[in-house]
Amino acid sequence: MSRFHTLTVQDVRQETRDAVSIAFAIPDELKDTFRFTQGQYLTLRREIDGEEIRRSYSICTGTLDNEIRVAVKRVPEGRFSTFANQSLAVGDTLEVMPPQGRFHTSLDPARQGHYLAVAAGSGITPILSIIATTLEVEPRSRFTLLYGNRSTAGTLFRDRLQGLKDRYLERLNLVYIFSREEQEIDLYNGRIDAGKCHALFDRWVDVKGLEAAFLCGPLEMTEQARDALKAHGLAGERIHRELFGTTLPTAGSRPRQATGVGQVDVDQARVEVMIDGRRLAFEMPRDGESILEAGNAHGAELPFSCQAGVCSTCLAKVEEGEVEMYANYALEDYEIEAGLVLSCQCRPVSDTVILNFDH
Ligand code: FES
Repeated sequence: MSRFHTLTVQDVRQETRDAVSIAFAIPDELKDTFRFTQGQYLTLRREIDGEEIRRSYSICTGTLDNEIRVAVKRVPEGRFSTFANQSLAVGDTLEVMPPQGRFHTSLDPARQGHYLAVAAGSGITPILSIIATTLEVEPRSRFTLLYGNRSTAGTLFRDRLQGLKDRYLERLNLVYIFSREEQEIDLYNGRIDAGKCHALFDRWVDVKGLEAAFLCGPLEMTEQARDALKAHGLAGERIHRELFGTTLPTAGSRPRQATGVGQVDVDQARVEVMIDGRRLAFEMPRDGESILEAGNAHGAELPFSCQAGVCSTCLAKVEEGEVEMYANYALEDYEIEAGLVLSCQCRPVSDTVILNFDH
Protein backbone atom coordinates (compact mmCIF):
# COMPACT_ATOMS: atom_id res chain seq x y z
CA MET A 1 0.00 0.00 0.00
CA SER A 2 2.66 2.47 1.04
CA ARG A 3 4.88 1.99 -2.00
CA PHE A 4 5.30 4.60 -4.68
CA HIS A 5 4.77 3.61 -8.31
CA THR A 6 6.08 5.46 -11.35
CA LEU A 7 3.13 6.67 -13.43
CA THR A 8 3.10 8.54 -16.71
CA VAL A 9 1.14 11.76 -17.05
CA GLN A 10 -1.55 11.17 -19.66
CA ASP A 11 -3.14 14.61 -19.69
CA VAL A 12 -2.63 18.03 -18.15
CA ARG A 13 -5.63 20.34 -18.35
CA GLN A 14 -5.74 24.00 -17.40
CA GLU A 15 -8.83 24.24 -15.20
CA THR A 16 -8.56 27.87 -14.08
CA ARG A 17 -5.83 30.50 -14.35
CA ASP A 18 -4.00 28.95 -11.39
CA ALA A 19 -5.09 25.32 -11.33
CA VAL A 20 -4.41 22.29 -13.50
CA SER A 21 -5.75 18.79 -13.37
CA ILE A 22 -3.47 15.84 -14.10
CA ALA A 23 -4.62 12.45 -15.39
CA PHE A 24 -2.40 9.39 -15.12
CA ALA A 25 -2.04 6.39 -17.40
CA ILE A 26 -2.45 3.26 -15.29
CA PRO A 27 -0.80 0.14 -16.72
CA ASP A 28 -2.89 -3.05 -16.59
CA GLU A 29 -0.79 -4.60 -13.83
CA LEU A 30 -1.53 -1.61 -11.54
CA LYS A 31 -5.26 -1.28 -12.29
CA ASP A 32 -6.27 -2.94 -9.02
CA THR A 33 -3.68 -1.03 -7.01
CA PHE A 34 -5.02 2.30 -8.27
CA ARG A 35 -8.72 1.51 -7.99
CA PHE A 36 -10.12 4.30 -5.83
CA THR A 37 -13.12 5.27 -3.76
CA GLN A 38 -14.80 8.64 -4.31
CA GLY A 39 -13.18 11.38 -2.19
CA GLN A 40 -9.75 9.75 -1.93
CA TYR A 41 -6.40 11.35 -2.74
CA LEU A 42 -3.02 10.49 -4.25
CA THR A 43 0.33 11.32 -2.71
CA LEU A 44 2.79 12.45 -5.40
CA ARG A 45 6.56 12.52 -5.07
CA ARG A 46 9.09 14.31 -7.22
CA GLU A 47 12.60 15.61 -6.81
CA ILE A 48 12.62 19.35 -7.39
CA ASP A 49 15.91 21.29 -7.23
CA GLY A 50 17.59 18.32 -5.60
CA GLU A 51 15.02 17.92 -2.84
CA GLU A 52 12.33 15.26 -2.50
CA ILE A 53 8.91 16.91 -2.36
CA ARG A 54 5.73 15.02 -1.43
CA ARG A 55 2.24 16.42 -1.75
CA SER A 56 -1.23 14.90 -1.51
CA TYR A 57 -3.90 15.91 -4.02
CA SER A 58 -7.51 14.80 -4.15
CA ILE A 59 -8.93 12.84 -7.03
CA CYS A 60 -11.57 14.84 -8.89
CA THR A 61 -13.00 12.09 -11.08
CA GLY A 62 -15.84 9.73 -10.18
CA THR A 63 -15.11 6.07 -9.61
CA LEU A 64 -17.03 5.15 -12.78
CA ASP A 65 -15.31 7.76 -14.97
CA ASN A 66 -12.58 5.34 -16.06
CA GLU A 67 -9.93 7.94 -15.31
CA ILE A 68 -7.82 8.88 -12.33
CA ARG A 69 -7.20 12.62 -12.25
CA VAL A 70 -6.11 15.01 -9.50
CA ALA A 71 -6.37 18.79 -9.34
CA VAL A 72 -3.42 20.97 -8.32
CA LYS A 73 -4.01 24.59 -7.46
CA ARG A 74 -0.94 26.81 -7.48
CA VAL A 75 -0.22 28.25 -4.06
CA PRO A 76 2.22 31.11 -3.50
CA GLU A 77 5.74 29.71 -3.20
CA GLY A 78 4.38 26.18 -3.40
CA ARG A 79 7.19 24.29 -5.09
CA PHE A 80 5.23 21.27 -6.22
CA SER A 81 2.12 23.18 -7.23
CA THR A 82 4.20 25.71 -9.20
CA PHE A 83 6.07 22.91 -10.94
CA ALA A 84 2.80 21.14 -11.77
CA ASN A 85 1.19 24.32 -13.08
CA GLN A 86 4.16 25.60 -15.07
CA SER A 87 6.36 22.70 -16.13
CA LEU A 88 4.58 19.35 -15.95
CA ALA A 89 3.77 17.95 -19.39
CA VAL A 90 2.12 14.92 -20.95
CA GLY A 91 4.59 12.02 -21.01
CA ASP A 92 6.40 13.09 -17.82
CA THR A 93 6.50 10.63 -14.96
CA LEU A 94 5.70 11.12 -11.28
CA GLU A 95 6.04 8.83 -8.30
CA VAL A 96 2.53 8.11 -7.06
CA MET A 97 1.27 6.30 -3.98
CA PRO A 98 -1.95 4.26 -4.33
CA PRO A 99 -5.21 6.05 -3.42
CA GLN A 100 -5.80 6.73 0.27
CA GLY A 101 -8.30 8.56 2.42
CA ARG A 102 -11.46 8.05 4.42
CA PHE A 103 -13.44 11.03 3.11
CA HIS A 104 -16.36 8.94 1.87
CA THR A 105 -19.29 6.82 2.94
CA SER A 106 -20.39 3.52 1.47
CA LEU A 107 -23.00 3.78 -1.26
CA ASP A 108 -26.12 1.69 -1.81
CA PRO A 109 -27.96 1.68 -5.16
CA ALA A 110 -31.26 1.13 -3.31
CA ARG A 111 -30.86 4.19 -1.08
CA GLN A 112 -32.99 7.28 -1.45
CA GLY A 113 -30.86 9.74 0.49
CA HIS A 114 -30.13 13.43 0.56
CA TYR A 115 -26.47 14.41 0.82
CA LEU A 116 -24.96 17.81 1.48
CA ALA A 117 -21.51 19.11 0.58
CA VAL A 118 -20.02 22.42 1.69
CA ALA A 119 -16.86 23.36 -0.21
CA ALA A 120 -14.69 26.43 -0.57
CA GLY A 121 -12.19 27.06 -3.38
CA SER A 122 -10.13 24.03 -4.37
CA GLY A 123 -11.92 22.09 -1.62
CA ILE A 124 -14.36 21.23 -4.39
CA THR A 125 -11.90 18.61 -5.73
CA PRO A 126 -12.84 15.54 -3.64
CA ILE A 127 -16.44 16.78 -3.43
CA LEU A 128 -16.70 16.62 -7.23
CA SER A 129 -15.66 12.98 -7.13
CA ILE A 130 -18.16 12.27 -4.34
CA ILE A 131 -21.07 13.99 -6.12
CA ALA A 132 -20.41 12.37 -9.51
CA THR A 133 -20.08 8.91 -7.98
CA THR A 134 -23.01 9.18 -5.57
CA LEU A 135 -25.49 10.41 -8.16
CA GLU A 136 -24.46 7.67 -10.56
CA VAL A 137 -24.39 4.79 -8.07
CA GLU A 138 -27.52 5.84 -6.15
CA PRO A 139 -30.09 6.76 -8.84
CA ARG A 140 -32.71 7.84 -6.29
CA SER A 141 -30.47 10.01 -4.10
CA ARG A 142 -30.11 13.81 -4.18
CA PHE A 143 -27.15 16.09 -3.56
CA THR A 144 -27.00 19.72 -2.47
CA LEU A 145 -23.71 21.59 -2.90
CA LEU A 146 -22.91 24.89 -1.18
CA TYR A 147 -19.78 26.13 -2.94
CA GLY A 148 -17.93 29.27 -1.89
CA ASN A 149 -15.59 31.27 -4.13
CA ARG A 150 -14.60 34.85 -4.76
CA SER A 151 -16.29 35.06 -8.15
CA THR A 152 -17.37 33.07 -11.18
CA ALA A 153 -14.02 33.52 -12.92
CA GLY A 154 -11.90 31.59 -10.44
CA THR A 155 -14.47 28.90 -9.67
CA LEU A 156 -12.81 25.54 -10.11
CA PHE A 157 -14.76 22.85 -12.02
CA ARG A 158 -17.71 25.11 -12.80
CA ASP A 159 -18.14 23.48 -16.24
CA ARG A 160 -17.91 19.99 -14.79
CA LEU A 161 -20.52 20.85 -12.17
CA GLN A 162 -22.78 22.31 -14.84
CA GLY A 163 -22.39 19.08 -16.82
CA LEU A 164 -23.51 17.13 -13.76
CA LYS A 165 -26.40 19.54 -13.27
CA ASP A 166 -27.53 19.02 -16.88
CA ARG A 167 -27.37 15.29 -16.37
CA TYR A 168 -29.02 15.19 -12.93
CA LEU A 169 -31.32 18.19 -13.18
CA GLU A 170 -33.74 17.09 -10.47
CA ARG A 171 -31.22 15.50 -8.15
CA LEU A 172 -28.38 18.03 -7.97
CA ASN A 173 -28.84 21.41 -6.35
CA LEU A 174 -25.90 23.80 -6.87
CA VAL A 175 -25.64 26.88 -4.69
CA TYR A 176 -22.75 29.23 -5.50
CA ILE A 177 -21.73 31.72 -2.84
CA PHE A 178 -19.45 34.53 -3.98
CA SER A 179 -17.54 36.92 -1.75
CA ARG A 180 -16.60 39.39 -4.49
CA GLU A 181 -19.38 39.11 -7.03
CA GLU A 182 -22.85 40.37 -6.31
CA GLN A 183 -25.69 37.89 -6.86
CA GLU A 184 -29.41 38.66 -6.80
CA ILE A 185 -30.19 36.56 -3.76
CA ASP A 186 -28.46 38.21 -0.85
CA LEU A 187 -28.02 34.93 1.00
CA TYR A 188 -25.65 33.83 -1.77
CA ASN A 189 -23.30 36.78 -1.24
CA GLY A 190 -20.39 36.69 1.21
CA ARG A 191 -18.36 33.90 2.73
CA ILE A 192 -19.38 30.53 4.06
CA ASP A 193 -19.22 31.12 7.80
CA ALA A 194 -21.33 30.22 10.82
CA GLY A 195 -23.99 32.86 10.12
CA LYS A 196 -24.29 31.87 6.46
CA CYS A 197 -24.56 28.17 7.33
CA HIS A 198 -27.29 28.78 9.90
CA ALA A 199 -29.24 30.96 7.45
CA LEU A 200 -28.93 28.40 4.64
CA PHE A 201 -29.78 25.46 6.86
CA ASP A 202 -32.80 27.29 8.28
CA ARG A 203 -34.24 27.99 4.86
CA TRP A 204 -32.88 25.52 2.34
CA VAL A 205 -31.70 22.29 3.85
CA ASP A 206 -33.50 19.71 5.99
CA VAL A 207 -30.36 18.99 8.01
CA LYS A 208 -31.91 16.32 10.24
CA GLY A 209 -32.86 14.28 7.18
CA LEU A 210 -29.36 14.25 5.64
CA GLU A 211 -27.74 10.91 4.90
CA ALA A 212 -24.28 12.51 5.24
CA ALA A 213 -22.55 15.87 4.96
CA PHE A 214 -19.11 16.41 3.41
CA LEU A 215 -17.17 19.54 4.32
CA CYS A 216 -13.99 20.51 2.49
CA GLY A 217 -12.07 23.77 2.69
CA PRO A 218 -10.07 25.83 5.18
CA LEU A 219 -10.09 24.77 8.82
CA GLU A 220 -12.31 27.60 10.04
CA MET A 221 -14.97 27.05 7.40
CA THR A 222 -15.17 23.32 8.03
CA GLU A 223 -15.40 23.86 11.79
CA GLN A 224 -18.15 26.46 11.50
CA ALA A 225 -20.14 24.37 9.03
CA ARG A 226 -19.74 21.29 11.25
CA ASP A 227 -20.92 23.16 14.34
CA ALA A 228 -23.91 24.59 12.46
CA LEU A 229 -24.87 21.12 11.20
CA LYS A 230 -24.66 19.71 14.72
CA ALA A 231 -26.73 22.61 16.05
CA HIS A 232 -29.35 21.75 13.44
CA GLY A 233 -29.47 18.18 14.66
CA LEU A 234 -27.08 16.18 12.47
CA ALA A 235 -25.11 13.49 14.33
CA GLY A 236 -21.33 13.86 14.33
CA GLU A 237 -20.83 10.45 12.63
CA ARG A 238 -22.69 11.74 9.57
CA ILE A 239 -20.36 14.73 9.18
CA HIS A 240 -17.15 14.16 7.23
CA ARG A 241 -14.42 16.78 6.97
CA GLU A 242 -11.31 17.22 4.89
CA LEU A 243 -8.99 20.16 5.32
CA PHE A 244 -8.01 22.01 2.18
CA GLY A 245 -6.68 25.39 1.20
CA THR A 246 -3.66 27.58 1.20
CA THR A 247 -3.36 28.10 4.94
CA LEU A 248 -2.44 24.74 6.34
CA PRO A 249 -1.85 24.82 10.06
CA THR A 250 1.69 24.42 11.31
CA ALA A 251 2.54 21.29 13.23
CA GLY A 252 1.54 21.26 16.86
CA SER A 253 4.08 22.05 19.50
CA ARG A 254 5.97 19.07 20.69
CA PRO A 255 6.26 18.02 24.30
CA ARG A 256 9.19 19.44 26.21
CA GLN A 257 12.12 17.30 27.13
CA ALA A 258 11.26 15.55 30.38
CA THR A 259 13.53 16.18 33.33
CA GLY A 260 14.04 14.41 36.59
CA VAL A 261 15.80 11.62 38.37
CA GLY A 262 15.67 8.30 36.59
CA GLN A 263 14.89 9.90 33.26
CA VAL A 264 17.53 7.90 31.43
CA ASP A 265 15.83 4.64 32.39
CA VAL A 266 12.28 5.67 31.52
CA ASP A 267 12.96 7.93 28.55
CA GLN A 268 12.97 5.21 25.90
CA ALA A 269 10.01 3.30 24.54
CA ARG A 270 9.91 0.17 22.44
CA VAL A 271 7.88 0.74 19.28
CA GLU A 272 6.84 -1.90 16.80
CA VAL A 273 5.35 -0.98 13.43
CA MET A 274 3.42 -3.30 11.11
CA ILE A 275 3.47 -2.31 7.47
CA ASP A 276 2.97 -4.16 4.19
CA GLY A 277 2.90 -7.43 6.15
CA ARG A 278 6.30 -6.71 7.77
CA ARG A 279 7.06 -5.99 11.41
CA LEU A 280 9.87 -3.78 12.59
CA ALA A 281 10.74 -3.00 16.21
CA PHE A 282 12.96 -0.20 17.47
CA GLU A 283 13.70 1.84 20.56
CA MET A 284 13.02 5.57 20.50
CA PRO A 285 13.07 8.47 22.95
CA ARG A 286 9.68 9.52 24.27
CA ASP A 287 10.42 13.23 23.98
CA GLY A 288 12.00 13.68 20.59
CA GLU A 289 10.90 12.99 17.06
CA SER A 290 7.58 11.49 16.02
CA ILE A 291 7.04 7.75 15.68
CA LEU A 292 6.90 8.27 11.91
CA GLU A 293 10.31 9.96 11.85
CA ALA A 294 11.84 7.42 14.22
CA GLY A 295 10.41 4.53 12.21
CA ASN A 296 11.72 5.89 8.94
CA ALA A 297 15.12 6.55 10.50
CA HIS A 298 15.13 2.81 11.23
CA GLY A 299 14.27 1.97 7.63
CA ALA A 300 10.55 1.22 8.07
CA GLU A 301 9.50 3.22 4.95
CA LEU A 302 6.32 4.48 6.59
CA PRO A 303 4.07 6.59 4.32
CA PHE A 304 3.80 10.33 4.82
CA SER A 305 3.14 13.55 3.00
CA CYS A 306 2.35 16.80 4.88
CA GLN A 307 3.87 15.90 8.27
CA ALA A 308 1.56 18.52 9.76
CA GLY A 309 -1.39 16.41 10.88
CA VAL A 310 -3.55 17.34 7.89
CA CYS A 311 -3.46 14.75 5.13
CA SER A 312 -3.63 11.45 7.11
CA THR A 313 -1.23 9.67 4.73
CA CYS A 314 0.63 8.51 7.86
CA LEU A 315 -2.51 7.00 9.41
CA ALA A 316 -2.03 4.01 11.70
CA LYS A 317 -3.96 2.07 14.28
CA VAL A 318 -2.72 1.61 17.82
CA GLU A 319 -2.77 -2.13 18.44
CA GLU A 320 -1.08 -1.93 21.82
CA GLY A 321 0.08 0.79 24.21
CA GLU A 322 -0.61 4.49 24.41
CA VAL A 323 0.51 7.43 22.29
CA GLU A 324 -0.02 11.17 22.44
CA MET A 325 -0.79 13.33 19.38
CA TYR A 326 0.62 16.88 19.19
CA ALA A 327 -1.73 18.02 16.44
CA ASN A 328 -4.66 16.58 14.58
CA TYR A 329 -6.53 18.21 11.72
CA ALA A 330 -7.63 15.00 10.04
CA LEU A 331 -9.26 12.63 12.50
CA GLU A 332 -12.67 12.94 14.08
CA ASP A 333 -13.24 12.01 17.73
CA TYR A 334 -14.90 8.71 16.92
CA GLU A 335 -11.90 7.71 14.76
CA ILE A 336 -9.50 8.48 17.61
CA GLU A 337 -11.71 6.44 19.93
CA ALA A 338 -11.36 3.58 17.45
CA GLY A 339 -7.58 3.76 17.93
CA LEU A 340 -6.56 5.67 14.79
CA VAL A 341 -3.63 8.08 15.04
CA LEU A 342 -1.51 10.28 12.79
CA SER A 343 1.93 8.78 13.22
CA CYS A 344 3.67 11.99 12.07
CA GLN A 345 2.18 13.72 15.10
CA CYS A 346 2.54 11.21 17.87
CA ARG A 347 5.03 10.03 20.40
CA PRO A 348 4.95 6.97 22.65
CA VAL A 349 3.59 7.36 26.17
CA SER A 350 3.62 3.73 27.34
CA ASP A 351 6.75 1.56 27.48
CA THR A 352 5.62 -0.47 24.50
CA VAL A 353 3.61 0.70 21.49
CA ILE A 354 2.49 -1.32 18.48
CA LEU A 355 1.24 0.66 15.47
CA ASN A 356 -0.44 -1.06 12.56
CA PHE A 357 -0.19 0.71 9.20
CA ASP A 358 -2.02 -2.13 7.42
CA HIS A 359 -5.20 -1.65 9.48
FE1 FES B 1 0.03 14.20 6.72
FE2 FES B 1 0.82 12.79 8.89
S1 FES B 1 1.81 12.96 6.97
S2 FES B 1 -1.05 13.85 8.59
